Amino acid sequence: MSAPLLRVESLTAGYGAAPVLQDVAFVVPAGTIAAVVGPNGAGKTTLLRALSGSLPSIQGTISVSGTSLRGVPTEKLVHHGVAHVPEGRGVIGELTVDENLRLGGCGERIAPTPSVPSRKCTRCSSRSPGAATARGTSLRRGTANARDRTRLVARPTLLLLDEPSLGLAPRIVDLIMTTLRDLRDRTGLTVVLVEQNAHSALPISDQAIVLSLGRVAIATSAAELAHDPEFRTTYLGF
Ligand SMILES: Nc1ncnc2c1ncn2[C@@H]1O[C@H](COP(=O)(O)OP(=O)(O)OP(=O)(O)O)[C@@H](O)[C@H]1O
Ligand SMILES: [Mg+2]
Repeated sequence: MSAPLLRVESLTAGYGAAPVLQDVAFVVPAGTIAAVVGPNGAGKTTLLRALSGSLPSIQGTISVSGTSLRGVPTEKLVHHGVAHVPEGRGVIGELTVDENLRLGGCGERIAPTPSVPSRKCTRCSSRSPGAATARGTSLRRGTANARDRTRLVARPTLLLLDEPSLGLAPRIVDLIMTTLRDLRDRTGLTVVLVEQNAHSALPISDQAIVLSLGRVAIATSAAELAHDPEFRTTYLGF
């Protein structure tokens, strides 16, 4: 097993006085995919927000490659190799596809960064029907998975993805999952994959973390969870 890339210990976090996440702990080894699944309101999105430094109230330890992320603002995460693709909102509609891709590389919402080579952006946007000069809003229709690419331009070591399958056709969901698996296998990318769609996420994941009421209810291998009869009936429906 490779060394831990992400380590979360005693994480308690939320939006105000009452914490949503309580005493959450897990480790994600480098070059693996951890699926985070669980029912609506379990705290999956809150967990990603805590990891990406966008929650007001947080206790515990979050470290990437041994470096603490406590106090690191969201816009500086990219310098620690972390990219966060929030649920459904990774694209700025007023900007062009090309501009969105550049922003994905710099972690700033204002000026495109000169440090992201434009050929990388061109390579990404050329794969998107609609091309570089289309408005970002167009990505929400035919090519929603391009929002994930906007973060991949930064060449992260850790990708935090919130429900990438949401609202997409099964064919596109399959494409996203196989792309994540290939990125892990080819580049050693480490992924925390939040998904309601456990059916699609578990086959490409190494480990699975089930959140329930803000706590880790089950932490096991993805293959084991997929074959857990209780989990299958509760979450997969068969
Ligand atoms: N901005 C917010 N302010 C206050 N409470 C919030 C906020 N966002 C979420 N919550 C609460 O935090 C809890 C966990 O919500 P969260 O969105 O993390 O769940 P989730 O597992 O991502 O659910 P879903 O599967 O619906 O996306 C819920 O009780 C929710 O009402
Ligand atoms: Mg959510």
